[in-house]
Amino acid sequence: MSTASALVLFGSSGDLAHKLVLPALYRLETHRDLDCPVVGVARSDWDTDELRRQTGEAVRAAFAEVDEGALGRFLDRLRYVAGDYDDPATFDQLKAVLGERAGHAVHYLAVPPPLFATVAGALAREGLNTASTLVVEKPFGTDLASARALDAELRRYFPEERLLRVDHFLGKEAVEDLLVFRFANRLFEPVWNRDHVRSVQLTFAETLDVADRGGFYDAVGAIRDVVENHLFQVLAYLTMDPPAGADRDAEQRERTRLLRSVRTLRRQDVVRGQYAGYGDVDGVRQGSTTETFAALHLRIDNWRWHDVPFLVRAGKCLPVGALEAVVELRDAPPLHLIERSRAAGNLVRLRLQPDAGITVEILAKEPGPRYATRTVPLQVDLSSALGPTQTAYERVLANALAGDRSHFLSMDAVEQSWRIVDPILDLDDAPLPYEPGSWGPAPADTLPGPAGWHPLSTRP
Ligand code: NDP
Ligand code: BG6
Repeated sequence: MSTASALVLFGSSGDLAHKLVLPALYRLETHRDLDCPVVGVARSDWDTDELRRQTGEAVRAAFAEVDEGALGRFLDRLRYVAGDYDDPATFDQLKAVLGERAGHAVHYLAVPPPLFATVAGALAREGLNTASTLVVEKPFGTDLASARALDAELRRYFPEERLLRVDHFLGKEAVEDLLVFRFANRLFEPVWNRDHVRSVQLTFAETLDVADRGGFYDAVGAIRDVVENHLFQVLAYLTMDPPAGADRDAEQRERTRLLRSVRTLRRQDVVRGQYAGYGDVDGVRQGSTTETFAALHLRIDNWRWHDVPFLVRAGKCLPVGALEAVVELRDAPPLHLIERSRAAGNLVRLRLQPDAGITVEILAKEPGPRYATRTVPLQVDLSSALGPTQTAYERVLANALAGDRSHFLSMDAVEQSWRIVDPILDLDDAPLPYEPGSWGPAPADTLPGPAGWHPLSTRP
């Protein structure tokens, strides 16, 4: 349950607030998990009624069915403060609206990253930082040096225990389930190492283009947008050692320890692509060399994973929307009686999106007189087995309101992630073009080797 006296949503008129944060807060309200006022602060010349109207629209756009009672209660919680973050009057007004609730407020910064420090500094000048919590959206910095500088700046105003860095993938049930799958089942952990695993492929494919986020995306690109944060955390869940200790910090430390073992990337480890038509998107610079696709070959320098190739790819305008890991096990030693089919089994597929599921491809005896084999799937659809789950933003917001740091990034993890990608950021060569609906530029196809990537279990 929330310990916050209020939630202040900076950027309440923005895209993230509209699409994800306000709908997630409504959902918390439906479960009676929201129990404080919500104050929106943004530049648009709105009043509280307009924020309520916009929020009602956002909720109706997000859900086919709306609980009118819960929506009414949620809208009643809303207040709006209009003003520029550069203007001290905005924060005077916020202080007045918060009144005695200012003390343990949670300040959620759904604003462009260059404004994180501006808002934090302004809160401090008003004395609104003494016991409150600062939550900052992603990306945290644009490279290792800027992330360190941003952290130093924010830490002038908020101590580490009251500074939460969002990576909403940490709020995904399916991502956390990787830990349970690996360590609560006796079956898999004994083979989860270099002796038994030939390679690991991790794909985060999106069918959408950059839509109306051209201005934001062009300064960022796929590596900063989803690889160094979301996918590295998923990779850590897939490959970490069991956490030593019962608290959630132990889990976070173990993931960060894994990232520490990931070798720093070199230019030759990455294939970057840009979909045809990206240059025409509003907000994209002429001749932009921002990548909308990246495929990377990573190595983990520890005993468990020495010499196992890890292939990671992410991109916009790909043929399917999916987040899936494919773990390829080594072949069993030959048994001369058994004729191997050409389509080898021994793949463990962990599908995290769109619907979570696990498929283990095993070889079974082909009916008939001989010991011929056929690959058959052993599969479970976790979404239907486990039922509905909270969205990532619901969980992240509920944690922020409860002062629970479990679904946020430590600065250590942020630094390790930037360290890994630092040499491949802002390469001066142009990314390779690819057609929307394809799997990225041709050289990415063979990054895992001549056999290419395993087809995903998610079909177009
Ligand atoms: P938008 O540009 O859509 O929204 C920015 C918000 O900040 C608006 O409410 C805007 O107010 C406000 N704002 C900007 N400058 C000022 C200012 N000087 N003074 C007062 N208010 C200001 O950005 P997004 O919502 O897309 O992104 C916000 C954050 O969320 C970023 O860190 C982004 O990386 C992150 N994020 C976004 C995702 C998305 O899907 N959009 C996904 C994941 C993370 P107004 O419009 O009223 O001027
Ligand atoms: C965001 C990125 O962090 O994550 C987006 O900025 C991306 O570009 C999104 O589309 C994907 O998140 P999800 O939860 O929709 O898979």
